[in-house]
Amino acid sequence: LDNGLALKPTMGWLHWERFMCNTDCDTQPDNCISERLYMQMADVMVKEGWKDAGYEYVCIDDCWPSRQRDAQGRLQADPKRFPGGIKKLADYVHSKGLKLGIYADVGKNTCAGYPGSLGHYETDAQTFADWGVDLLKFDGCFMDWKLLGDGYTNMSKALNKTGRSILYSCEWPLYEWPFQKPNYTAIRETCNHWRNFDDVFDSWSSIKSILDWTASHQDTIVPSAGPGGWNDPDMLVIGNFGLSHAQQESQMALWAIMAAPLLMSNDLRDICPRSKKLLQNKLIIDISQDPLGKQGHLSAKLDSFEVWERPLSKRRLAVAVLNKQEIGGPRIFSIRFVPGWKICDPQCNVTQILPQYKEMGVQTLQSKVLLYIDPSGTALLTVTPLSSPLKNPHK
Ligand code: DGJ
Repeated sequence: LDNGLALKPTMGWLHWERFMCNTDCDTQPDNCISERLYMQMADVMVKEGWKDAGYEYVCIDDCWPSRQRDAQGRLQADPKRFPGGIKKLADYVHSKGLKLGIYADVGKNTCAGYPGSLGHYETDAQTFADWGVDLLKFDGCFMDWKLLGDGYTNMSKALNKTGRSILYSCEWPLYEWPFQKPNYTAIRETCNHWRNFDDVFDSWSSIKSILDWTASHQDTIVPSAGPGGWNDPDMLVIGNFGLSHAQQESQMALWAIMAAPLLMSNDLRDICPRSKKLLQNKLIIDISQDPLGKQGHLSAKLDSFEVWERPLSKRRLAVAVLNKQEIGGPRIFSIRFVPGWKICDPQCNVTQILPQYKEMGVQTLQSKVLLYIDPSGTALLTVTPLSSPLKNPHK
């Protein structure tokens, strides 16, 4: 969507995977969907280096509204859980130098049964703008699939009409795929990012299913990604309960290769230092945010290894090698089997970022560099071509 936003994949935090629809603030005041949760996340994001690392949006998902619209037909926040209202919350988040995201649904109800926006697109867009909201995640439950396109397009127009810059996060293709192949040209013109596939869970099988879906549809979806519009493989679940550290590294590496929005869903108030370091790794974030803005793709499958490559600015290349063999110990992968390795003619410079930072120096097509990759772990590298002054221009 050409609204000047999401020129790079969006970075921030989104409540859904970790906090879901927990509305029980009496017994769980710190973990329920309430203004307190977002204020505390915003505080930590500033204090603990998240904002400095680039994470900017604090996003509300489902279950924030009251069951009823107000007398003027506007959405309103649940008064018990958001006593200050969304405008105050937005002011607070802005005072920290961060941005606020909110959630609504294109259909009659949200997935959790709260009021949907069908028939109220202009009112709701204006309400969000009046509150100072900076991002809208627009879900697709309780909608006739034939009307999805009109619904998502009309909300896009309604947001534009408010005059406020509101990043527009869609789930249009996810809800359309069961019925027909989505029109990614139209989707890219309408949305700043779009979910294609199932909700992420806090498990390695969920991460694998998202990668498999992405690889098997890459010819359709990769060309549609670029500055202003991105494929969204869903939230980062790093720092939660379900992934080993190697698997967390795999999610981080592959989300950077896929030019995915980096929306964490975890508890930043209580996160293990190793997960924090991974999520704040500057070299990985630089790959994610690379100015060329091209999404990477699966380039080879070799002996239970998957090679993923993303072209970067200045003819550089990011390479992720995932070890999909879930038995045994670390396995060896010989780097010259990477299809994009041809940019090492005559020479290239290689930096390993995961599993640990290592300058691997100048290499050639005949390089003997070996990677040691843990089961369900990933080696992440950048490769910078070097043109040799001796190269024969007539060759
Ligand atoms: C389905 C979406 O795909 C999820 O990300 C989340 O927003 C839930 N709905 C909320 O009900």
